[in-house]
Amino acid sequence: MKKKLIAGNWKMNGSLAANDKLLKDILVGVGQAACQMAVGVPAVYLSQCQALLAGTAIDLAAQDISAHEVGAYTGEISGAMLKEFGVRYVIVGHSERRQYHGETDEVVALKAQRALGCGITPIVCVGETLAEREAGKTDEVVKRQLAAVIHTNGHCISEVVVAYEPVWAIGTGKTATPEMAQQVHAVLRAQLKAASDHADRIKLLYGGSMNAANAASLLAQPDIDGGLIGGAALKAQDFLTIIAAAH
Ligand code: 13P
Repeated sequence: MKKKLIAGNWKMNGSLAANDKLLKDILVGVGQAACQMAVGVPAVYLSQCQALLAGTAIDLAAQDISAHEVGAYTGEISGAMLKEFGVRYVIVGHSERRQYHGETDEVVALKAQRALGCGITPIVCVGETLAEREAGKTDEVVKRQLAAVIHTNGHCISEVVVAYEPVWAIGTGKTATPEMAQQVHAVLRAQLKAASDHADRIKLLYGGSMNAANAASLLAQPDIDGGLIGGAALKAQDFLTIIAAAH
């Protein structure tokens, strides 16, 4: 059976001291986890976290990657650079980047392609806003976002991880019910099946106020293969409880 993936997205949180404590607390408590695990840390802390996680079962993730390979792109970080720090996953197209940094579906698709080209697994985020949900456009929006990634990446689409993150559920404490999340995951799975013979092995994560209390019921859904966790990933005990629910 496909192992679930529990990935933390620390966003713009942390400090050298806080990261050290958080990762040590997680490593002490994690034991023999049944799932795959990763933490997505700010780029300046990749080196620190690479050292802390060396030889452990927790993989390192970055939160963004440049769509370009190399050169005059001030402030950008390339896939090759991420690879040098042992990065296994990179979050691509998070709604905060789409919203605050103007990332289009096409840019997100290129970033996913760049990651794959460097041997890094992109965690491609899709999700609708509250206005889009209320207008009945959820399926249309997530399918459009995923279609761009499928179009650009062809058969390599079987190598990506997809995270469904309804924008209205991020950081708000409002979670999609397990049934609501499953419904969208089924739509995404069908779209992936139409694009790839290996769609069953693609992990579909849910993200948006997943926490220690609601993780088990979300992770019990047939097409939810893991979680992308924001706030709860910053608290060792909460993150550990979510990991324990992922079997
Ligand atoms: P929260 O878990 O804080 O709602 O964040 C979810 C998220 O955006 C993960 O990428």
